[in-house]
Amino acid sequence: MKTIIEPFRIKMTEQIHLTTASERSKYLKESHNNVFLIDAEHCCIDLLTDSGTGAMSAQQWAALMLGDESYAGSKSWKKFESTISEITGMPHIFPTHQGRAAESLLVKTQVKATSVIPNNSHFDTTRANIESSGAKALDLLYEHAYQPDYICNFKGDMDVKKLEQVIEQEGVENIPFCMITVTNNSGGGQPVSMQNMKDIKKVLSKHNIPMIIDACRFAENAYFIKTREPAYADKSMLEISREMFDLADGATMSCKKDGLSNIGGFFVCRDPEWAVHFKNALIMQEGFPTYGGLAGRDLEVISVGLKEALEFDYQNYRHATVKYLEEKLTAKNIPIVKPAGGHAIFLDAKAFCEHLNPEDFPGIGLVNELYLQGGVRGVELGSVMFGKNEDGKEIPARLELVRLAFPRRVYTQSHFDYLIEVIEEVWQNRKEIPKHNITYQPEFLRHFTAHFERC
Ligand code: F0G
Repeated sequence: MKTIIEPFRIKMTEQIHLTTASERSKYLKESHNNVFLIDAEHCCIDLLTDSGTGAMSAQQWAALMLGDESYAGSKSWKKFESTISEITGMPHIFPTHQGRAAESLLVKTQVKATSVIPNNSHFDTTRANIESSGAKALDLLYEHAYQPDYICNFKGDMDVKKLEQVIEQEGVENIPFCMITVTNNSGGGQPVSMQNMKDIKKVLSKHNIPMIIDACRFAENAYFIKTREPAYADKSMLEISREMFDLADGATMSCKKDGLSNIGGFFVCRDPEWAVHFKNALIMQEGFPTYGGLAGRDLEVISVGLKEALEFDYQNYRHATVKYLEEKLTAKNIPIVKPAGGHAIFLDAKAFCEHLNPEDFPGIGLVNELYLQGGVRGVELGSVMFGKNEDGKEIPARLELVRLAFPRRVYTQSHFDYLIEVIEEVWQNRKEIPKHNITYQPEFLRHFTAHFERC
């Protein structure tokens, strides 16, 4: 059969409140034109994030009831530890309440104000954690990764030459580790090839620089490797994942993505000294090392979820959904990042809103129009999220994208058809998309709480 179906049936439903255009206009105004500040129940299709928004399986709900809430050494911790040990092969495993807590503790324990941390591209929380410590966070993607319509199999690959230059310029002693984000969320959910990871590892090994994977979407990345890197076609998703982690010295993880859970994260590493520092910091910030800020039931859910994310049929259906959108939007000439990544469609707001400049924040204009048109909530990944305001002057980001991220196992085909209709309607009227100004912004992670005015 050609049709790839959802490999699950629906046992429980959650009502979507349908809103009218005038209600949405009121909600957006009340939220200072920032969709992060809109109530979730006022969104018809909520594509703000794929993080923690997935639907759990019956197996996960059943596992939840087995949660052992003992403070230390619970049965749930044992399951969590053995699952993560099987997938990553790492000896030191620490739960955290989500990915950014793992990042924050890694930065606290290994990064100095003089440090430089390379990555293919840092996600916003990783960058914020590094920069708030005074260190530099560098993005080392190939130049073609910044061209939304440049098609290649592994657009998340790190430019190894750039890495070599950074090591030479900044000095090995200033690089406590190098990160690689799989898949590369900020650049369009683009995958990283195993070959690239091997090449990075080779360079890093020469200088004894540890390699840390930001593993949020490791299973989606493994699917791309299996289907796009011929040598891996016959390997299982678990084998591929294990091979990725075998190249690394540690990993930070948000289980809210490929852990198929609503909360949770972890840090893993090989170096016992790193582990001791991390453990001590973890106890102060998150909790005892066998629960690290999570309930026993969360540890259970994650243990099941990580394995479900590695099921080929599940990944095949998830990628088919993204592909479906990519094909439909491309057929209508709607500009998106190509090829589509693993967890989202990224609209190219620069090409969408040709009449706007980066300082007009075209991504915010587009996000807000999608909401007004159909109650679809997306997120800007452009000059608001990645640009900077230095002494009142806006420094724009390289890309102006709008991400429509797909919660796992939540929306069905008709939701996606509705979404396509909404995007098309906004595309038809794209010249009407207005400029936005920022009227309030905090120092870090401004996109979450900034206020905007429509001009
Ligand atoms: N790294 C990447 C690549 C991410 O995408 C995220 C989260 C994190 C780290 C932090 O994990 O949220 O558990 O603290 N991304 C979410 C998103 C928020 O919408 O893409 P967290």
